[in-house]
Amino acid sequence: MGKKVVVTGVPGVGKTTVITGAMERLAVEGIAYEAVNFGTFMFDVARKENLVSNRDEMRKLGKDVQKRLQQAAASEIAAMSINANVIVDTHSSVKTPTGFLAGLPEWVLRELMPDIVVLVETDPDQILMRRLGDDSRVRDMEGSRAIAEHQEFNRAVSAAYAMYTGCTIKIVRNENFLLEKGVDDLVSVLR
Ligand code: AP5
Repeated sequence: MGKKVVVTGVPGVGKTTVITGAMERLAVEGIAYEAVNFGTFMFDVARKENLVSNRDEMRKLGKDVQKRLQQAAASEIAAMSINANVIVDTHSSVKTPTGFLAGLPEWVLRELMPDIVVLVETDPDQILMRRLGDDSRVRDMEGSRAIAEHQEFNRAVSAAYAMYTGCTIKIVRNENFLLEKGVDDLVSVLR
């Protein structure tokens, strides 16, 4: 059985950037991990069913539809992770029009059973600036305070994930000009 590490963080905090840096570092050390993006698995199903035209529309879908997409993604990723070390790039919670939706509800945790849940965080102002600088995505417009609340909610809901699975929770800071420090911290839990 491989190691399963779930990496989470609010949109634009730099999850994918830190994962990419860590994968490069681990490859040099000869440690193999598969990195998968949970949202991409959900999006493949949603696009085939003509539910959305871009990945940022998924969080606006009805709760039951998002739940079905989560289940499909979780079971596909679980099948991949039987014999490999896997990093899952996803969300502790997703901000939907009707409130926060758990990114790792019971039906996802049962499939994935992560060893570690990583929360990538940084100062809300930095996240706001990163979102404003990224034209490739359709970001929700929100201020630093709302971003801070989302990060706080992610810590709270992650405590429930630890209670359910026995996983550890690791907080990795990805601050401006300190990406390498964030990469170091992630590598240390992946080794
Ligand atoms: P997903 O694809 O994960 O979208 P996202 O959260 O918006 O992730 P991004 O890739 O845009 O942000 P990131 O944090 O990885 O930042 P990045 O590295 O690009 O999810 C898409 C959708 O799927 C979700 O909205 C949801 O609907 C659905 N979904 C996924 N998981 C789900 C789940 N479990 N349940 C239900 N739905 C789910 O970096 C951002 C920018 O910051 C870049 O420009 C980068 O260059 C810059 N940057 C990064 N680090 C630094 C640094 N240290 N200093 C300066 N700039 C930096």
